[in-house]
Amino acid sequence: MDLFEYQARDLFEKYGLPVLPAAIATTSEQAHDAAAKIGGKVVVKAQVKVGGRGKAGGVKVAADADDAKEKASAILGMDIKGHTVRTVMIAQAAPIDSEYYLAILLDRSNRTFLVMASVSGGMDIEEVAHTAPEKLAKIPVDANRGITAAKAKEIIAAAAFPADIASQVEEVLLTLWKVFQSEDATLVEINPLVKTVDGKIIALDGKVTLDDNAGFRHLDHEALIDHAQANALEAAAKEKDLNYVKLDGQVGIIGNGAGLVMSTLDVVAYAGEKFGGVRPANFLDIGGGASAQVMADGLSIILGDTDVKSVFVNVFGGITACDAVANGIVQALELLGPKATKPIVVRLDGNNVIEGRAILKAAAHPLIEQVDTMDGAANRAAELAAK
Ligand SMILES: Nc1ncnc2c1ncn2[C@@H]1O[C@H](COP(=O)(O)OP(=O)(O)OP(=O)(O)O)[C@@H](O)[C@H]1O
Ligand SMILES: [Mg+2]
Repeated sequence: MDLFEYQARDLFEKYGLPVLPAAIATTSEQAHDAAAKIGGKVVVKAQVKVGGRGKAGGVKVAADADDAKEKASAILGMDIKGHTVRTVMIAQAAPIDSEYYLAILLDRSNRTFLVMASVSGGMDIEEVAHTAPEKLAKIPVDANRGITAAKAKEIIAAAAFPADIASQVEEVLLTLWKVFQSEDATLVEINPLVKTVDGKIIALDGKVTLDDNAGFRHLDHEALIDHAQANALEAAAKEKDLNYVKLDGQVGIIGNGAGLVMSTLDVVAYAGEKFGGVRPANFLDIGGGASAQVMADGLSIILGDTDVKSVFVNVFGGITACDAVANGIVQALELLGPKATKPIVVRLDGNNVIEGRAILKAAAHPLIEQVDTMDGAANRAAELAAK
């Protein structure tokens, strides 16, 4: 589960990392009051679980409470890469001297934890990582030892943090490790970690991903779940009489029959392990006699889920044969038109499979890819979601 910035900030504060006074608001009036309470110059920040908010116009400095109200009303409702801004965070504005980057993450491919650190932090860190990778220090961290004072010094030297802030950065690294380990996170990132003009180190922006597999150890993490999106999709599905449950992965799933859909979730989760832990985004059973309309309803719910990166349609033809389902898929995509935007992997088998596959092949829809086996299709859908 990814956290919102304000949730990451609160977690950081709980562990004693240096953060700024801040409050969240869902209306411009609330933003005004929050800014008045903080006092002075503030920053209004869109709370969406996607990077690049600043560049998209989702982070704005406001001179006072009235200005914060104005900025908040511009940012609330904004669409940032498919995410609607429902909440803003109002934070005290910091007088910034320098921006740094710091992250601890689970490096799955090397089976270790990894610290990434750079004195060239801020909104262009992705650019830095591409064009000047030597400016981004990468230091593996042994899971059993964690970040000790010695390890922190090694990181500070590798990233060439200036001497005048070394002890503060060391403190931040030790505390950040505590957050990472104690909360069972797979990512904790501070970008930017800033030095203010009077030499103080502050975490200005935080990203945290918690490991859902460790959820049983952290009953308090339940309260961090964003129910707004899940509820909206489930309500829309209910209206269409669809048997839909939102999950938190990236591969949208449609199948006919609850048992088939359940096992589809399993094969996608299994295939997804190879692609950095890609998981199913939902359960959706369109039932035995699925018409084109039902297929279209199902696809439109799934395509409306901003977490979904690819879709896997897994159908075993029975009374409703594969050719009918294939026609349903083709008509569904016609009904959806430009609303269909994500790659769709289709696996058809069972009654009239030859005819069904031929229909999809003849339609040659650019989003559709056919794979004949369930495992193969799960693999392809997970691969597409990881891209
Ligand atoms: N409290 C603050 N005071 C002063 N400047 C700020 C503050 N918060 C953010 N900024 C400035 O705005 C920039 C962008 O902010 P932030 O890092 O929160 O968003 P972002 O990086 O664009 O979003 P994301 O991390 O989601 O990509 C920062 O690099 C910093 O220069
Ligand atoms: Mg940032």
